[in-house]
Amino acid sequence: MRRQTAPDGPSRRGPAGVLPLWRARRKTMSGGLQPGTVLWLRRYSFFFAVVALATLALILSFASHAAWTWVFAAMMPFVAIGLFDAFQTRHSLLRNYPLIGSMRWLFEALRPYLRQYIVEGDEEGRPYPRMDRSLVYARAKQEEDRQPFGTELNAYSSEYEWMTHSLAPMPVAEEPFRVTVGGPQCAKPYSASVLNISAMSFGSLGRNAIEALNLGAKTGGFYHDTGEGGLSPYHRTYGGDIVWELGSGYFGCRNRDGSFSPERFAEKAADDQVKMVEIKLSQGAKPGHGGVLPAAKVTPEIAEIRGIALGEDCISPSRHPAFNSPVQLMEFVAKLRELSGGKPVGFKLCVGHPSETFAIVKAMLKTGIRPDFIVVDGSEGGTGAAPRELADHVGMPLREGLVLMRNALVGAGLRGEVKLAASGKVTSGFSMAANMAIGADWCNAARAFMFSLGCVQSLRCHTGLCPTGVATNDPHLQRGLVVEDKAERVANFQRHTVHALAELVAAAGLSHPSELLPHHLWHRVSPIEVRPLDKLYPFLAPFALVEAPEETPYGAEWRAADAESFTPRMDVGPLRAA
Ligand SMILES: Cc1cc2nc3c(=O)[nH]c(=O)nc-3n(C[C@H](O)[C@H](O)[C@H](O)COP(=O)(O)O)c2cc1C
Ligand code: SF4
Repeated sequence: MRRQTAPDGPSRRGPAGVLPLWRARRKTMSGGLQPGTVLWLRRYSFFFAVVALATLALILSFASHAAWTWVFAAMMPFVAIGLFDAFQTRHSLLRNYPLIGSMRWLFEALRPYLRQYIVEGDEEGRPYPRMDRSLVYARAKQEEDRQPFGTELNAYSSEYEWMTHSLAPMPVAEEPFRVTVGGPQCAKPYSASVLNISAMSFGSLGRNAIEALNLGAKTGGFYHDTGEGGLSPYHRTYGGDIVWELGSGYFGCRNRDGSFSPERFAEKAADDQVKMVEIKLSQGAKPGHGGVLPAAKVTPEIAEIRGIALGEDCISPSRHPAFNSPVQLMEFVAKLRELSGGKPVGFKLCVGHPSETFAIVKAMLKTGIRPDFIVVDGSEGGTGAAPRELADHVGMPLREGLVLMRNALVGAGLRGEVKLAASGKVTSGFSMAANMAIGADWCNAARAFMFSLGCVQSLRCHTGLCPTGVATNDPHLQRGLVVEDKAERVANFQRHTVHALAELVAAAGLSHPSELLPHHLWHRVSPIEVRPLDKLYPFLAPFALVEAPEETPYGAEWRAADAESFTPRMDVGPLRAA
């Protein structure tokens, strides 16, 4: 084959001539090898170097000292990986760069850890910055949680928020705050804490995590939401208060075909440990999305708890089969309340189309049926696993969703009869106070309680390989999570956070967080402008929607909302333009 020759000579000197000259030199340096061969040698050089070292160690083990045998043995796995890389057919990078390509994969795998432990600053880290996690860890372990030297936050950044305080503070409340849930239509109201454990199913969390959460709830006097995976024996081991969540799969109270079974529901809801029932309409991290637990993951235990068949995929439909309109949703609420013997029944949702929220409120007015509570979940909320687009770009963030739901209830004159809860990145007394200033009666937290169980935000919940034994069913990994120890941390975190809220409430000159109002919370909107929340968001007066909807910012949505259908009566766009 003809060898490539590099044009040379004084006439090719200058910018255009430098490259050929350089190529010619390289050719000499590579000993006249074909460029393709040179490249191949370069790509394999790391692997060849390791093979050469292994060979040298083998020779030395015979010629010099037997200890070289250990060096040879240590090198052999790397030689094996290199050989495997070079001959496998799935990964082109590894075929082209054996061994060193695998090292890249190793560093990719280690990247989150290196970042978290070495590179990450206090305000960095997603979804929870290190400073938020550290606060939960400190409170859970009863370690020092006070801040030395002053705030580390930039009070002039556009994210900065603060609560206004009073020159006449009140004494800090000694008794933890409680909220009575259960309107006039409820025979067995429940006294809830202001901070509770948000829905997380057995299955997405392991047995030990569920037991530790429930024991923590029992110790601290707050509730533990089952999540849609049903009421498992692990929720019952310690007898902490339970809110039983019903998702669209009706796990634990379903017929063979997946429809709702009133008999099974009534039987389980009668349990004294079940304090309230929550219908899950949607979840912030994956609104409008159902779920499938593949047949392979349906263990006999899960099949038994959920009331599903072994060997079949377990489907959670994206919408509830038991109702098809806001009015039917209200009727379902009333039915569950009756079947449960009068326990509070409510629902959880991430706010989607505003007209649907108004349709639900119109259904309350039309039927006269009131849910006892509504939990608004923000799109910033967590999950075991969700499609990326849904997690990142679907659903209303908590603040906007909470304002909308508060306005829908207040504007319809229903706020006094329906309690409102909020979930979405609650980690501190301040995050609770902010939600309560907007209108929440209490807050729920999921991931903060996971931190109190020892979660290190390694973001592997969907793999079943949670290193801290929280989000896994692997008995070996769960061994690390000791129920009694972690239950104490769960209770500690809740107690100290509620106490921090009490200190904020007292500093504002108030005696209960229900007295917090939107104007108590201020937000920086530019380096030189700040506003109280009531100047940033609309806060409707009671009955504003029923009396003069067109004078509110929601006139079009209110008119389009239909109590008989989740689909709006008319197109909201032209209505808004009119
Ligand atoms: C591991 C995990 C599992 C969850 N499972 C459920 C569930 O079964 N039902 C539900 O309504 N929400 C579920 N959620 C959402 C939480 O209940 C909560 O609404 C959301 O994470 C917001 O709270 P956070 O920001 O404090 O985590 C889950 C969240 C996590 C992290
Ligand atoms: S430690 Fe990692 S895998 Fe385990 S629960 Fe936390 S984020 Fe999920």
